[in-house]
Amino acid sequence: NRPLTLSPSILAADFSRLGQEVADVVEAGAQWVHLDVMDGHFVPNISFGPAVIKALRPWTKAVFDCHLMIAPADPYLAAFADAGCDIITVHAEAGPHLHRSLQTIRALGKKAGVSLNPATPLSVLEHVMDDIDLLLIMSVNPGFGGQAYIPAMTDKIRAARALIGNRPIDLEVDGGVTAANAAEITRAGANVLVAGSAIYKGKGVEDYRKTVAALMAA
Ligand code: DX5
Ligand code: ZN
Repeated sequence: NRPLTLSPSILAADFSRLGQEVADVVEAGAQWVHLDVMDGHFVPNISFGPAVIKALRPWTKAVFDCHLMIAPADPYLAAFADAGCDIITVHAEAGPHLHRSLQTIRALGKKAGVSLNPATPLSVLEHVMDDIDLLLIMSVNPGFGGQAYIPAMTDKIRAARALIGNRPIDLEVDGGVTAANAAEITRAGANVLVAGSAIYKGKGVEDYRKTVAALMAA
């Protein structure tokens, strides 16, 4: 069993002081930092790109868990690797050549993740299960923080855990994760929890520490 890991999404952080926000959430006990990249095309919102991630890299040694909500992704994979991302996750829906994207990420020396929108079946993964290090199940429609968890995703998480079997693949869940549903999500088989607004609605390290502890208690 892979260790329970918390990956706070800085999408809900104070963008005017992002470096400090990253440092604070890691000091509060988070192991990873979740970086939501949005292009205004694959999803109806725009966030930040590799230059911002590069500027954040010196603020922490924590794992940079990069969630690309961009299409196409392939032309930008090298830039995200250079920016200091450790895990690069692409959406299965973002292009016609998922296998090529995963190959490219691993060839860059990074861990390769695949993300699925709520409506996308697990069956799209059938032939790439040995090419991924992480599976990201979206539990909201991507584009915005602060949305409600879609209850039907709990069964999907359970099915994803069964599909992973003994493979060394992290199962991450993203969207609407709170201290109230974290136990349900981890019991279904997730080992990496993303949380944006649940953490950053607090202000400063001490607030973050409480929420990190509550989520990790799942
Ligand atoms: C949604 C992003 C999520 C989001 C999570 O498109 O991928 O990572 O920031 O935010 P909360 O935890 O507020 O749902
Ligand atoms: Zn995300």
